[in-house]
Amino acid sequence: MSELILKPKGTNDVLPEESYRWQHLESVLRRAAADFGYREIRFPTFEYTELFVRGVGDTTDVVQKEMFTFTDRGGRSVTLRPEGTASAVRSYLENSLYGAGLPVKVFYIAPNFRGEQPQAGRYREFHQFGVEYLGSPCPAADAEVIGLYSDILDRLCIKNIRLEINSIGCPECRPAFHAALKEYFQSRRDRLCGSCIERMEKNPLRILDCKSPVCGEIAAGSPVGLDHLCGECRDHFEATKAMLDAMGIAYEINPKIVRGLDYYTRTVFEFVSGDLGAQSTVCGGGRYDGLIEALGGQSAPGLGFAAGLERMLLVMDAQGISIPKPEGCRIFIASLGAAADKPAQKLVNDLRKLGVKAERDTMGRGLKAQMKYADRLGAAFSMVIGDNELEKGRANIKDMATGSTFECFLSAEDIKNAVT
Ligand code: HAM
Repeated sequence: MSELILKPKGTNDVLPEESYRWQHLESVLRRAAADFGYREIRFPTFEYTELFVRGVGDTTDVVQKEMFTFTDRGGRSVTLRPEGTASAVRSYLENSLYGAGLPVKVFYIAPNFRGEQPQAGRYREFHQFGVEYLGSPCPAADAEVIGLYSDILDRLCIKNIRLEINSIGCPECRPAFHAALKEYFQSRRDRLCGSCIERMEKNPLRILDCKSPVCGEIAAGSPVGLDHLCGECRDHFEATKAMLDAMGIAYEINPKIVRGLDYYTRTVFEFVSGDLGAQSTVCGGGRYDGLIEALGGQSAPGLGFAAGLERMLLVMDAQGISIPKPEGCRIFIASLGAAADKPAQKLVNDLRKLGVKAERDTMGRGLKAQMKYADRLGAAFSMVIGDNELEKGRANIKDMATGSTFECFLSAEDIKNAVT
């Protein structure tokens, strides 16, 4: 026998026994997105590398260390999508979605790829539900986007999640904040790791995401963006908070949130779970008022969030939230003797066409083994067709839970009426 080939590190199979959980989650997400006025967008799984270098930022860990990048046959560098925002904005510009009027509200459920060290809740292929709200500069849009994820948590009955918000300013106030960060880190330069010394020159904000414990300890005492906001950013943050208050959405201000991607401006937020280990952020997002322009469009604001489906399912698991299992086999039709083989096959086929989950044996099993199989399928009803039943044109249907039986004609319509 040849050796088995296993899945790549950091990827997951969703097995038939668990795929219903994904389907449930996705249907709740789709429904909520539709209720909040978002329409689905689908984009390619890979894009030209430059999109992410320019969109996500060349000083981020995602771009520097985590992208799955390769050269295509035409010699162009392409990258498996590490996140959806850059793709959504690219598509918005390429297809002039703004032409139909603003705002443009899109959502996606899509796999993403990052070459991170896998652990519980962190994978190399993972799935995000994301929304992008393009065109609105108003705090109401910030509150609306946050409100959608807050509602999704309610719809999924997920509890014990903290909403943390912050503002990281705009290009007007960013230089002063960067200068303050640089000054702070410069005086502690000898304790920073090599990458952070580089980050200090290029983008000191990125030091705040360094995974080294020493850098983390130093970063804990660093200046915060909220102390350096310009008047307009401060007003925007206050108005966003007031709108959240009006909507009854509880939040905490966490001045340390900076997010790991370069495109953010002003509001940034994270929904953090107390039920996950180190990978506790279930959803993250914020405003990116400079991204559309950076990707070649006319300057326009935007914002959004993405939530990891794997992490949401982990939280639901940890909280024992039960997800309705799909209905199993409705009726199992066993056959006894060669003459019953074709009529049984036809009945099963006709029942399925009528929308009844019908099953039969296709393994050549004897009657006893067929009934065992019916049990394994969890069939609600069963029926045995043999020579007698064929002659009478009727057979007994057995209710598998109670053991009671009743007679029925061998017609798909009659059987359907009897078992549904
Ligand atoms: P992000 O914070 O990089 O933001 O990812 C958002 C969410 O995706 C995380 O909170 C987490 O639930 C999930 N996630 C990220 N990386 C992994 C991983 N390696 N394994 C499992 N789950 C993961 C973004 O991607 C932005 N595009 C969000 C956004 C949309 N901002 C504005 N619009």
